[in-house]
Amino acid sequence: MKERIQTKFQTLFGCEGDIYASAGRINLIGEHTDYNGGFVFPGAIDKGIMAAIKVNGTNKVKAYSLDYDEYCEFGLNEEDKPAQAWACYVFGVCRETIKRGGKVEGFDCVFAGDVPLGAGLSSSAALESTFAFALNDIFQNGIDKFELAKIGQSTEHNYCGVKCGIMDQFASCFGKAGCLIRLNCKTLEYKYFPFNPKGYRLVLVDSCVKHELASSAYNKRRESCEKAAAAIRKNHPEVEFLSDAKRIWLDEVREEISQEDFIRAEYVIGEMQRVLDVCDALERDDYETVGEMMYQTHFGMSKLYEVSCEELDFLNKLARKYDVTGSRVMGGGFGGCTINLVKDELYEPFISAAKEQFEAEFGHAPKVYDVVISDGARKL
Ligand code: GLA
Repeated sequence: MKERIQTKFQTLFGCEGDIYASAGRINLIGEHTDYNGGFVFPGAIDKGIMAAIKVNGTNKVKAYSLDYDEYCEFGLNEEDKPAQAWACYVFGVCRETIKRGGKVEGFDCVFAGDVPLGAGLSSSAALESTFAFALNDIFQNGIDKFELAKIGQSTEHNYCGVKCGIMDQFASCFGKAGCLIRLNCKTLEYKYFPFNPKGYRLVLVDSCVKHELASSAYNKRRESCEKAAAAIRKNHPEVEFLSDAKRIWLDEVREEISQEDFIRAEYVIGEMQRVLDVCDALERDDYETVGEMMYQTHFGMSKLYEVSCEELDFLNKLARKYDVTGSRVMGGGFGGCTINLVKDELYEPFISAAKEQFEAEFGHAPKVYDVVISDGARKL
């Protein structure tokens, strides 16, 4: 990938750029908890975005996406927002850096990636983190890593229409090979957990479906949680986020909020506890408990939070049938992958059954990716 990028950079701009990269992510458990101030447990993966970049002495960004085979040029003022969706991510990162007092001037860039799009592996966070990290390095802005992650998150909020939490950008900025990271999204305290379960493998099964309106449905889930938290806050003023609420406090407001908001909040409160339970279980090498929690998360995401879909429920059921230790829909939902914790000896039978039976049911084969937990944003 590096060579392809440099070759194109040379052709377009007549020199070589500096190379930066960042990663997509997995999340073992803790879904839709980040924007509720709860815990998440992600790690960066060996699929990411790579970019060649060089300052060009103008006030224009000249960007080329190898994957879309498209060129785009834009200025750095708010009114210069480009039309192409991919370029909006780069533009958003520039704008959010500037808003934080960072310096950004014109630059040339070529980038490409190997994070499958729409698979729930955060290709967009990988793109944002690559550029946030690169601009910080090139223009010597001295912005800390958390703020770089927030630059990516604000890019989603202000330029891409998704009111996401901090998990994806955090994972792609802080990722470390071989480690999952438990993050408290309220206090931003985090801890690395070496993850190397002996006798097990983590594997993603990608349904290759992405349902329409995923971002508006995502934003709606967030609103439900905020409404539930606001109702609870009337009785318990210390509740800033849903993560601060006890389960019984939710029961107190059952009549005051819609049933839908109640059920969504119920899922989130349960999910927050599951992250802690999984971390405890990992410290005892108790993978059966880890797996059981993953199944519980799937149930919650499917039946309470309603962010699963037919294809993912099918894969989850199949995992149970083939004695996979843990399986669940991963990421925002509405398509994408299941993440599966599977014993070495059950890997082959499960994967071949998943390929065969999924294709027989839905007419196309799923894709399979073995998880390799890798480093996040960096200069190569
Ligand atoms: C998406 C968002 C994250 C997080 C997950 C669900 O990936 O970008 O912030 O909310 O969904 O856990």
